[in-house]
Amino acid sequence: ITKAVILIGGPQKGTRFRPLSLDVPKPLFPVAGVPLIQHLIEACVQVPSVKEILILGYFASDEITPFIGEIRPLYPTVRIRYLQEYTRLDTAGGIYHFRDQIKAGNPSSFIIINGDVGGDFPLQEMLEFQSNLKASGKTPLLTILATEATRQQSVNYGCIVENKETHAVTHYVEKPETFVSATINCGVYVCSLDIFPIISKIYATRQQLFYEGKIEENGETWESIALERDIIMPLTAEGNLYVYHSNRMWSQVKTAGSAIYANRQYLAMYRRRQPDRLAGCNKGKGDTTPRILGDVYIHPSAQVHPSCLIGPNVSIGKNVTIGPGVRIRESIVLGDTVIQDHTLIRYTIVGWNSYIGKWSRVEGTPCDPNPNKPFAKMENVPLFHEDGKLNPSITILGCHVRVPSEVVVLNSIVLPYKELSRSFSNEIIL
Ligand code: GDD
Ligand code: GTP
Repeated sequence: ITKAVILIGGPQKGTRFRPLSLDVPKPLFPVAGVPLIQHLIEACVQVPSVKEILILGYFASDEITPFIGEIRPLYPTVRIRYLQEYTRLDTAGGIYHFRDQIKAGNPSSFIIINGDVGGDFPLQEMLEFQSNLKASGKTPLLTILATEATRQQSVNYGCIVENKETHAVTHYVEKPETFVSATINCGVYVCSLDIFPIISKIYATRQQLFYEGKIEENGETWESIALERDIIMPLTAEGNLYVYHSNRMWSQVKTAGSAIYANRQYLAMYRRRQPDRLAGCNKGKGDTTPRILGDVYIHPSAQVHPSCLIGPNVSIGKNVTIGPGVRIRESIVLGDTVIQDHTLIRYTIVGWNSYIGKWSRVEGTPCDPNPNKPFAKMENVPLFHEDGKLNPSITILGCHVRVPSEVVVLNSIVLPYKELSRSFSNEIIL
């Protein structure tokens, strides 16, 4: 058997995801109608040998476990559990802390997935790659999923240099200062159980140094161990780390803007694999459905007037009500929101329980990867420009926001529970 570990971090992180992460932990944010983490769970469930999925993080248990309880019946072939770290143990510290849970049942290896990535992961292929290496007498410790980035963007990721013939990692630098390699770490791994004695050694050394007073905690615990910095970087010399390449869809989901991009990518994946999840695919409903362009997800409980034009790349959540003549494209509308007649929404995330009046325009500016550069990823532009102005980006309405009729909200971020009384552009509305 194999297992899967999904690293979801905790509440202090995901700050770039505000104000949306104020309402819900980032891993539970829905894209293409499904929480981010559920997409990762679905990827793991596709692998027949995966019998257990362990979700590791330091969110309070009551923030995550109700969700797991809800989705458990959908995936009866796997056991899904949330294991809560008592503090931020970092990417390998948590794995070490819960080693007995991972080792239970004696899996041949386990998959690790960073909870803040999205994509079409070749997990089964990676497992086969690792077991073929074993069969040929090698002792692979870790297989890293890698993709290509542009030279400029690569430095924001873990950068990998490999032996082109054997695919062994020869050099690895986590977020280097200057260019190292355009091959980047996707944050998805297949890991051997042999990793535990290695982490154990690091742990023992740290422990000794700490109790001898030779290292200070600096706000972090000495027990926090980073997979990239503490294990991958020093271990490249041993030659048992490998790279598996993929150019299938992959993206980080760090900012709210990247949720719009991930939304589009997951909708495109539905188109290829599960077209029945997309709106407009259930013919026979006749004229009760709105006009749909491209890939659109509409929750079955949502009421969308037939005169609306929706799409491309739109997701509409539970119990949303959308009045006549509304136009929405490239946006996510979250549950229980009301959008009144003839309003236009583009490149926007509308938070839960919001209300938008008639004849308004709520628009953002896309921050998509440069389509003219092969392998370009999303640019995570800083919130503010040097002059203190907001950088144009998608518009975000927090939950319970009210936008009146006949106003324009452009490239703005509106915090939860705000009631707007006029038009805004390029502003954070606190
Ligand atoms: N359980 C747990 N505990 N998870 C954690 C912790 C922790 O203490 N700290 C971070 N994580 C989770 C985060 O939620 C995220 O999903 C993942 O681990 C990695 O987060 P970071 O440590 O912030 O790294 P990063 O996202 O900047 O970079 C990593 O991912 C890139 C690909 O997206 C690195 O692996 C890079 O090399 C890689 O390119
Ligand atoms: P871009 O090339 O992406 O800028 O799109 P576009 O030039 O088609 O214009 P835009 O995205 O602004 O409008 C897209 C669609 O929405 C068009 O079909 C417009 O007719 C319609 N539309 C534009 N403004 C409004 C509006 O205020 N209300 C409604 N209901 N529809 C609108």
